[in-house]
Amino acid sequence: MRNLFFLGLMSILFFGCAPAVNEVNVYSGRHYEIDEVLFAEFYEETGIKVNVIKADADQLISRMELEGSASPADLLFTVDAGRLVLADQRGLLQSFESSLVDELVPLSYRDAGGKWVGLTSRARVFVYHKDKVNPADLSTYEALADPRWRGQILVRTSQNQYNQTLMASMIAALGAEKAEEWSRALVANFARSPQGNDRDQVKAVAAGAGSIAIVNTYYVGLLHNSEIAEERALVDNLGIFFPNQGDRGTHINISGVGLAAHAPNRENAIKLIEFLLSDHAQQLLANSNFEYPVSSRVPWPTLVQQWGEFKADTLQLSDLRSYLQEAMFIFDRTGWK
Ligand SMILES: [Fe+2]
Repeated sequence: MRNLFFLGLMSILFFGCAPAVNEVNVYSGRHYEIDEVLFAEFYEETGIKVNVIKADADQLISRMELEGSASPADLLFTVDAGRLVLADQRGLLQSFESSLVDELVPLSYRDAGGKWVGLTSRARVFVYHKDKVNPADLSTYEALADPRWRGQILVRTSQNQYNQTLMASMIAALGAEKAEEWSRALVANFARSPQGNDRDQVKAVAAGAGSIAIVNTYYVGLLHNSEIAEERALVDNLGIFFPNQGDRGTHINISGVGLAAHAPNRENAIKLIEFLLSDHAQQLLANSNFEYPVSSRVPWPTLVQQWGEFKADTLQLSDLRSYLQEAMFIFDRTGWK
């Protein structure tokens, strides 16, 4: 009898008090070490423990779908706005209110419905070989489809989220028909069948496999600061070009976070989001990966400042929802592998 009482008491302690465990569960498609540092600091400051499950964003989204209302996920971190838009389309996110988010994060870098918010932004730029390309000959994403660049363009596959979101932005800007024409002509200019990641495209330009790569800004920063001397040397011959300065501006993507629809630790989740928008966290996030902080209160990293001011596309990233599916059809129809 006493034992039964004891067992009952133990279950109350274990299960009855479960919600009192001060934690937040993160599903993360981010691949940056700085996150661990910031999560440890967050614990130090608030006593809220951050539990992290890391996987590819698509896997995490499928997992959240399978888990349904029993999902332990509080937050979904991604390196792409498109993945947050998809998660929202599948009913996996919920909206939240935060005056801090409203104050610090520009409208284009957060969900219009208040379900996700950017943490850092990155521009999808051209990296060109200085010996082969005069930057005066560069202008827009559209102009890379000109036959003059036949055999010169390097970009990774259409399976990659950065390219999918870029294509969605092209559809938003040009309409589906023009975006498809662009894609077909761009594919005809590819230096090789798409392979490798953004870093590999930059290396290929340096090695002379092509002359212009379409990549995220921070990969240049990572190579510039690489521990490997040969990687650092590569960057000397390369220039960065911000396209579409005469019209809508350069395509921007974000790394961001969405609040899970069934978040069991909702308040803690919002606290973590706000912590990551603090000046201190924004500075660490931006500096560690050579990105742009979303908060306007925080200066750009020194190297990023050297790349110069530029006009960014102000397309509201949550508007991409209407174009992501079409982007996949266009890749398919135009042979962008
Ligand atoms: Fe990346």
